[in-house]
Amino acid sequence: MSTSAGPLFTAADINGLSLRNRFAVAPMTRVSANEDGTATERMARYYERFARGGFGLLITEGIYTDQAFAQGYRDQPGITDAAQARAWRPVVKAAHRHGARFFAQLMHAGAISQGNRFRDGTVGPSAVQPLGSQMEFYYGRGAYPAPSAMTDGQIAEVIDGFATSAERAVAIAGFDGIEIHGANGYLIDQFLTEHTNRRSDRWGGGARARAAFAVAVFKAVRAKVGGNVPVGIRISQGKVNDFSHKWAGRNRDAEAVFATLADAGVDYIHVTDHEAWKPAFEGGHDSLVALARRFAPNLALIANGGLHDASRAQEVVEAGADIVAFGKGALANPDLPNRIGAVRELIPFDPALLGPIADIKAQELAL
Ligand SMILES: Cc1cc2nc3c(=O)[nH]c(=O)nc-3n(C[C@H](O)[C@H](O)[C@H](O)COP(=O)(O)O)c2cc1C
Repeated sequence: MSTSAGPLFTAADINGLSLRNRFAVAPMTRVSANEDGTATERMARYYERFARGGFGLLITEGIYTDQAFAQGYRDQPGITDAAQARAWRPVVKAAHRHGARFFAQLMHAGAISQGNRFRDGTVGPSAVQPLGSQMEFYYGRGAYPAPSAMTDGQIAEVIDGFATSAERAVAIAGFDGIEIHGANGYLIDQFLTEHTNRRSDRWGGGARARAAFAVAVFKAVRAKVGGNVPVGIRISQGKVNDFSHKWAGRNRDAEAVFATLADAGVDYIHVTDHEAWKPAFEGGHDSLVALARRFAPNLALIANGGLHDASRAQEVVEAGADIVAFGKGALANPDLPNRIGAVRELIPFDPALLGPIADIKAQELAL
């Protein structure tokens, strides 16, 4: 990967925040917080390895945003009050010590929550039972229950949860930026998706109307953190409970999503697809990365999905990605940038790392 990865070793910039290179760690839930949602010493050591290993940007696992329906998993970290926010401080400091930037990914699980210590039951845009089944490696079992449809008051509370969590993430925890989790089937994606959003009010309708909730969350976050903090959003077609989902309107839907977010003023879009270099739609030509670049031409663009292979990373950079995020490749190689820089072979990902529970293993901390 040494020669083709050359461009990834150049500095980058997101809304004035400089990154030493274009290698990012993708957000990965590790269900390793304390039961009360506070981050741990083990998590600090886990994230620190990526910073020491040369990554320019780390993105946290999805962090829940309120003490109502946001939490998705047992032992997921939160940032819903000052105590949870303070617990992130040593984690952020550990990454900063090694020169990495660190963004907090804010997440509301919505209808696919499978472990919430605050409330029984789930909520979503509409009362549609989620497809698929709960993930056992996050302590889940069986089908997801049908959620109740969110009221206007609940929608306002969720938006406020994102905004106040973002404020805490920056002001108390010391994060450098905010990633809003709009992908993978969680609440914001449930609003974006026709199948799960049957609303006929201002939050539902065509693809642009279904993006209104994502825009409202973004604007509330922006209002709290101000114009100088990078704020982006993660977008995907596939979902953890509906892996091969595709946008029915194809390029038109891509335009609706990406252009609407660009017009709203997000600083970056993070697109993820199972194999990010491949065409986004059956029989089509452009990847999701290429479509995001076309419809949001002036934004920073992060690409993710099966990109640990040099030629794949190269392809998405050519399609317009500014930064490449690595998930499983980073778990197997927490020093991936340094390894590539030194022309050392990458270690293949071993799925045993995530079983039976996908928490942070002692062996990872030894890597
Ligand atoms: C254990 C695990 C946990 C994940 N948790 C999250 C998460 O919290 N938020 C998120 O946006 N994506 C999450 N993902 C998806 C990854 O960010 C990434 O999109 C996926 O692993 C594909 O990229 P890769 O081929 O580089 O691994 C997770 C993936 C894995 C393997």
